[in-house]
Amino acid sequence: MSDILRIDRRTFLGSAAAALSVLVLPGCDAPEAGEGPAYAPWDYPDAGDAPEITAVGAAILAASPHNTQPWRFEIEPNRIALFADPARNLGPMDSLRREMHIGLGCALENLMLAARANGLAPTVRSMPDAARPDLVAEIDLALGRDRPSPLYDAIPHRHTNRGRYAQAPAPKALPAALGALVESSQVRLHLFTSGADRRAFADGVVAATEAIIKDTEMSTESARWYRHSRTEVENHRDGLTLDATGSGAALRRLGKYAGKPSRAEMDDYWLEGTRDRETTGSAYVILSTSAESTRAQQLEVGRAFQRIALWAATEGLAVQPLNQMAERQDREDTEGLSPRFGALLDAFTGKDHRRAQMLFRIGYPWDDARPSPRRPLAWVRQ
Ligand SMILES: Cc1cc2nc3c(=O)[nH]c(=O)nc-3n(C[C@H](O)[C@H](O)[C@H](O)COP(=O)(O)O)c2cc1C
Repeated sequence: MSDILRIDRRTFLGSAAAALSVLVLPGCDAPEAGEGPAYAPWDYPDAGDAPEITAVGAAILAASPHNTQPWRFEIEPNRIALFADPARNLGPMDSLRREMHIGLGCALENLMLAARANGLAPTVRSMPDAARPDLVAEIDLALGRDRPSPLYDAIPHRHTNRGRYAQAPAPKALPAALGALVESSQVRLHLFTSGADRRAFADGVVAATEAIIKDTEMSTESARWYRHSRTEVENHRDGLTLDATGSGAALRRLGKYAGKPSRAEMDDYWLEGTRDRETTGSAYVILSTSAESTRAQQLEVGRAFQRIALWAATEGLAVQPLNQMAERQDREDTEGLSPRFGALLDAFTGKDHRRAQMLFRIGYPWDDARPSPRRPLAWVRQ
């Protein structure tokens, strides 16, 4: 039986079970994605807002590691300052705070697209400043003309998709399209589309997931960001939810009914999902920088990734970051472990000592992704 037929049957059975579960299960406390104040920022843009507020409203819809949303903003009519919120870090899961700064780059890209689309001419000054170590970028806002773009329009529709993707070949135009979206000379794109490369990459992702699960500190940190009940989702408005795991409707419904899983259950589920769903798709991508791996370079990686994810949304393609190998590489460096995943990533990025920063898959999804909670502007404004 072909993959397509197998998946169709599974999808059909999943939908049937979901319909049944709605009929027979009593209500549960976990919310539906999209429902309630935790999801209100996705109702974007608000036509009554000033352009600088609209720009920050877009920034908070960006991707961030484990949905930590590690940002704060100072907002004035002619200037926005973007700060890291260092407490919102992933500890041993992001031991060099590399992902935190990539997430800040994602927010910066959304902010720039939104400023341009709403009559502003933004200029970024990336300024590491000893007096204000958390300041990531200052953006001057001159008056401009409206420059709408498909990437801007995609901002409220982009969601990380952890579901199954079709095992279809990558679109022919993919290499050129992705290349054009990487605007910084600091960032290099490595695209893997052949069967052999994709198998090697998938094996690396699964092996790194196993290594993370065996590392109690990493696994504990990852579990700390899982929000299950309505109260957890509404109180935190961040983190990972069952609705964002990419499982079918039946599993999502049953999972909510079953109550919050233990850390071991979450790890098992994650590993199974990685083997089964999260290694499907048309291509894998690595965004790399020079081995220096500066904060400014990480910001550029985030900006490039966010543009790619938005472009994918305009094309009916889905994207999921898969950073397990890079997370283990950083952990190896900080703990002085032998560089198992560092060596593997070097093999993927070539001989000239690039640093793998952001790894993801891209492909045609079987299902739409669900939104994740967001902390509203009032919580991130300083
Ligand atoms: C730097 C970075 C690393 C990420 N790593 C992963 C990852 O390894 N696996 C994954 O499923 N999602 C990963 N994500 C996606 C985030 O979990 C996601 O952006 C966040 O939960 C918010 O959801 P949204 O993108 O649907 O808005 C990463 C995102 C960023 C910016």
